[in-house]
Amino acid sequence: MKDVIASDADLVVRRLRDQPEEYSRIVTWRNSPYVREWWDPDDPPLTLEAAIEELGPGEDGDGQATFCIIELAGDPVGFIQFYPWDTEAAYLAEIGLRLPKGSWGLDIFIGDSGLAGRRIGSRAVRLLSDHLFAEESATAVALITEATNARSHAAYRRAGMRASGEPFLDTDLRDGQRVESILMIRDRPGGTVDAR
Ligand SMILES: CC(C)(COP(=O)(O)OP(=O)(O)OC[C@H]1O[C@@H](n2cnc3c(N)ncnc32)[C@H](O)[C@@H]1OP(=O)(O)O)[C@@H](O)C(=O)NCCC(=O)NCCS
Repeated sequence: MKDVIASDADLVVRRLRDQPEEYSRIVTWRNSPYVREWWDPDDPPLTLEAAIEELGPGEDGDGQATFCIIELAGDPVGFIQFYPWDTEAAYLAEIGLRLPKGSWGLDIFIGDSGLAGRRIGSRAVRLLSDHLFAEESATAVALITEATNARSHAAYRRAGMRASGEPFLDTDLRDGQRVESILMIRDRPGGTVDAR
């Protein structure tokens, strides 16, 4: 299995390694206010055990997502995961979304607020999307983000995505309420597919 998924100059997306320091880094990042503001805000702080259960190899998890670290000039700076949407039919039905068959999804955070706004996020999304189009024959790359997460919208637009359809309620919770969210999508280059 290749360690590096995709790279572009100083930016590398590589697989998360099954090593203690990798899980510790994720715990630090996920518990930072910068990431927690938008990533599972209602959940208790992530423990090392929970991180290993969520991201490590083994029986837990559905095994469909690939977990990756984003590196900039050799330094780990963030997390990105990707998965085929075709395996998420029940969830998509629950939130009332239809996606083109063969779509792939991704989720991302930059771990250090000091690195915000340096185009790392948009570059990583574009790089990984290009990889999914080229290597997985993705028909589209689509992700769900909170309707109020304007910074993420700007980053995803810079990565070639557009908002699609009306806002909807995700199953994710904020203050106990389902989160109003939007779908952002990048069509396969050379072909436009209706998302909803
Ligand atoms: C969302 C995230 C991955 C984007 O990565 P990034 O490296 O900061 O993004 P980029 O620098 O590529 O792009 C940021 C864009 O947001 C804009 N921006 C910054 N702060 C903003 C704000 N408060 N409101 C609106 N736009 C904002 C920047 O101007 C830039 O847009 P531009 O390229 O058109 O100028 C990163 O901010 C992050 O990890 N946030 C916390 C966790 C999170 O929200 N994850 C996404 C969950 S869906």
